[in-house]
Amino acid sequence: KIKACLFDLDGVIVDTAKYHYIAWKELANEMGFDFTVEDNERLKGVSRMTSLDILLSIGNVEKSEEEKLELATKKNENYLSYILKMGPEEILPGTKEFLEQLKKEGVKIALGSASKNAMTILNRLELTSYFDAIIDGTKVSNAKPDPEVFLKGAEALNVSPGECVVFEDAEAGVEAAIAGGMKCIGIGNAEILRKADFVVDGLHKMNIAMLEGLNN
Ligand code: G6P
Ligand code: MG
Repeated sequence: KIKACLFDLDGVIVDTAKYHYIAWKELANEMGFDFTVEDNERLKGVSRMTSLDILLSIGNVEKSEEEKLELATKKNENYLSYILKMGPEEILPGTKEFLEQLKKEGVKIALGSASKNAMTILNRLELTSYFDAIIDGTKVSNAKPDPEVFLKGAEALNVSPGECVVFEDAEAGVEAAIAGGMKCIGIGNAEILRKADFVVDGLHKMNIAMLEGLNN
């Protein structure tokens, strides 16, 4: 039986990809090359430093480790300026209703995100209090598809991986859930997320009865 739901943040609960995109694009433009919306797809679910490496490879630019840290900091300061203007109106449709339903039925709720800004974002969205455990980019050393972020979530909730279902919009996240021995519901493109148990357009398409079908 499913006892806990573990949620990715970016792309599942809120669309931060558009702000990541603006901030990465500005950085690319400053370095003299362009960065497209298609390029941005490659950064979904990927850690900040790996995202920067991908960006630099697109521009065919080489930087020292020290310069990379400066660039990542600069991007993040720019990104934060957008994040700090967000409010509850940016929560993706159906999220609150689904979280309420889980709470009412006693299903535990955790966050499993690669972002180091997850706490800031949850606070801006006024969603922090829904979560029984929050595992973010400040608490893990191995990025998805490594299952660390979700295994730490299960541990914090005191449930076993087999009792967990993960909600993910990125392929690496789906792989992380599976590697951790958890069920996974994909959010978004069914083709990209085909390894998930099933895929829905968004949390507005979810209800608690759909979790029962996940039991083997
Ligand atoms: C999420 C997003 C990625 C982002 C990563 C790190 O996984 O999908 O696009 O790069 O978090 O975010 P951060 O806020 O720490 O830069
Ligand atoms: Mg995501």
